[in-house]
Amino acid sequence: MTQKIKKIQVINGPNLNMLGKREPEIYGSLTLDQINTNLAQQAIPLGVALDFFQSNHEGAIVDKLHEIFDENILGVIINPGAFTHTSIALRDALLLLTCPIVEIHLSNIYKREAFRHTSLLADIVTGQITGFGHYGYQMALSAIVNMINES
Ligand code: DQA
Repeated sequence: MTQKIKKIQVINGPNLNMLGKREPEIYGSLTLDQINTNLAQQAIPLGVALDFFQSNHEGAIVDKLHEIFDENILGVIINPGAFTHTSIALRDALLLLTCPIVEIHLSNIYKREAFRHTSLLADIVTGQITGFGHYGYQMALSAIVNMINES
């Protein structure tokens, strides 16, 4: 049987590298580095390693998902940014994976413009966390680790 390596992949899509400066009234004042640092701290006692990836390019995220397909990882936490609402390519790439996948959004996409109410990923991921700001990443990490420990 193939051993799963104890790694969870964190992926952030377009414009999330601008967190802290980008519409802070919607997305909060923490930078992506600060969010990632908090998450890495949370992961230590949980005994899992995190890998962080951010890209503004759809194809680069698809390539990353192909890379982790071969790595047999524990789970994926993904904030796909605007690609949530547009990307069939991202949906198809996520469908390759069998590990838990949590789609997260800092803002509550269902309280915003109508075009943000549709996620092309929601029905193929394990679950979605939306509207809890940066805490959403921590909730996702905790959910994946608990699910793995129970299985
Ligand atoms: C977002 C919501 C998306 O609609 C938006 O395009 C983003 C960020 C969020 O985290 O709330 O870039 O994914």
